[in-house]
Amino acid sequence: MEKLIINGGSSLRGEVEINGAKNAAVALLPAAILASEGKCVIDNVPDIEDVHCLERILKSLGAKVNKLNSNALEINAQTIDTVNACTEDVRRMRASYYFIGALLARFKEARVELPGGCPIGVRPIDQHIKGFEALGAKVSIEHGAVNIMAEKLVGTNIFFDVVSVGATINLMIAATLAEGTTTLENVAKEPHVVDVANFLNSMGADIKGAGTDVIKIRGVEKLSGCNYSVVPDQIEAGTFMIATVATKGDVVLKNVIPKHLDSISAKLIEMGAKVEEGDDSVRVYVDGPLKGINIKTAPYPGFPTDVQQPMCTLLSSVPGRSLIVETIWENRHKHVDELEKMGAQIKVEGRTAIIDGVETLTGTLVNATDLRAGAALVIAGLIAEGETQITSIEHIDRGYPHIEDKFKKLGAKITRR
Ligand code: EPU
Repeated sequence: MEKLIINGGSSLRGEVEINGAKNAAVALLPAAILASEGKCVIDNVPDIEDVHCLERILKSLGAKVNKLNSNALEINAQTIDTVNACTEDVRRMRASYYFIGALLARFKEARVELPGGCPIGVRPIDQHIKGFEALGAKVSIEHGAVNIMAEKLVGTNIFFDVVSVGATINLMIAATLAEGTTTLENVAKEPHVVDVANFLNSMGADIKGAGTDVIKIRGVEKLSGCNYSVVPDQIEAGTFMIATVATKGDVVLKNVIPKHLDSISAKLIEMGAKVEEGDDSVRVYVDGPLKGINIKTAPYPGFPTDVQQPMCTLLSSVPGRSLIVETIWENRHKHVDELEKMGAQIKVEGRTAIIDGVETLTGTLVNATDLRAGAALVIAGLIAEGETQITSIEHIDRGYPHIEDKFKKLGAKITRR
């Protein structure tokens, strides 16, 4: 199995190009199924394992997927000849739940294995199912797969019990071809939710309100192919911003939407770092002392759960006590055991990590238990004394494109072996 080997101590300096958002791309690819005519050409797609997995699932359904270059895909969904998505790839990843909404909308039936994904807590899909049923679908779970069918889908009002990125996107997808209007309330407002709405509208859908608390979807007769470019990845950007501060570096992140990074920038500034916004770039640097701070994760526009783990590494290396309260996932502090092996002083009580900053972390052999834990350990390796070896890096490859190349370009001593 491959490992990342990092020799810590170099400050990150230079420019890094941020890729398209993983959590947008993983919804756009299944949503492309809705095009019963024409082809979808999607650009700025991150070259990550989760996307490769979705390409394979689309092909297994009969779609034609053509890689135009490492970041552009052409999807022809006219050739889909089965609604049965039950492969190892479907089981492996979380976002395969979007095939339920997309196949249901276009073919009025689907059989999709229950999704997998990072082991960060209980990950129910009850809100997705409640929404599909409200649109008129019949749902059963048998032999580990969701069976869903509907004579027709009819628009209705759906008020979600919890704010869910996945359920919001899945119901937007499912309602695009329903009769009448669907109103979704208590929805997620993440940039990737807005991106999926924009993509569906480019295909001919009529969706209004994405990015606010209420989304209205007026059903249309059919959707067609379109050309689209994925929104920049707020989480990849956040990870590089945090790594820059942790290494006391000076980095310009290009191809970002600074507004999407506000909650992360605010916390870095509160710690004592500098963040300068350009039109589609941010410069992050450190020119003075840093101090510990408190963070509570929340749905957008709050502090994203997906950068909480990298932030934990940074806070473990600055003076003073910091708290991180994780409100979205009940089991997202697994990186802490690994950081402790490197000398961090962190105590987890329930959903809160209590972090006492130490002067140095020291390199050792650590394991990436999940995607963002992996990113947290890469940052730990960048600041640690000596060599850090990270195993289970397939988790990192699921969501960060060419992570070692990007950090190497910024001056890090990191290789894959
Ligand atoms: N929830 C329910 N019922 C549901 C759906 C969600 O109770 O039917 C709960 C979850 O248990 C959780 C909360 O609602 O406590 C939020 O879950 P959400 O549905 O928003 O999460 P998700 O769609 O499964 C996506 C991202 C995650 C990210 C979360 C929150 C994808 C593929 N995954 O997951 O990304 O943490 O939203 O922003 O989009 C990551 O990229 O590392 C990652 C885990």
